[in-house]
Amino acid sequence: MSTSQVQNGLPPDNGEFWLFGYGSLIWKPPPHFDRRIPGFVTGYVRRFWQASQDHRGTPTNPGRVVTLLERSYWETLTDHHDTAPDRVWGTAYRIRADKVDEVKEYLDIREINGYTIHYTPFHPAAAADGGPIRTLVYIGTPDNDQFVGPQDVQALAEHIYRSHGPSGPNIDYLLSLHDALEGLSPESGDEHVTDLAQRVRLLASRTAKTLANDAPHEFKQAKSVEEQEETEK
Ligand code: BEZ
Repeated sequence: MSTSQVQNGLPPDNGEFWLFGYGSLIWKPPPHFDRRIPGFVTGYVRRFWQASQDHRGTPTNPGRVVTLLERSYWETLTDHHDTAPDRVWGTAYRIRADKVDEVKEYLDIREINGYTIHYTPFHPAAAADGGPIRTLVYIGTPDNDQFVGPQDVQALAEHIYRSHGPSGPNIDYLLSLHDALEGLSPESGDEHVTDLAQRVRLLASRTAKTLANDAPHEFKQAKSVEEQEETEK
């Protein structure tokens, strides 16, 4: 893991350790958290532009997972999805004070593969959860080896649809992220994620139809109860 990068404008470090998840951490929490808050960060854009050789793909066939881009950098690029919400929604976790070192070590192993540590202000969705919180976030910056950059959206959906890795099918990662975002808040949808989820669902239903059409006739029509009883007599 590379050196930490502290951004200006961060809320003060109050001695607590908070982690912001905008990808798999939303539905697959870290161990030993004692608070979990939905909310958002600003100044970033979430994209499926990071290759995954260790979780949702392999070194020879890397899958695709999300990273965050600084919005000012993303605005200089040509992206097929040329709009992005002002807020990147996700979940912040407070890690128990006595477990911080253990969790940092766990995360350094879990989240390696191009991601580096950054800090950003996190805004809780509910006013009752207080003001901005200083959170640690893992980002695959454009200079890391696994950064892929802008891709044709249909080609990206097909790539995700085909990819598998030690943590499971890439499609499960995308659909879990989509479902998790839908569940965070009425405003937490992300068009990039939603469009990709719709495209892979369409690919999956087309494949299911093709398989059903190609299946042998005996699997097509289950016998009625009467027919089965007649056969068994
Ligand atoms: C996340 O959920 O925020 C995340 C997970 C793995 C790597 C980078 C980010």
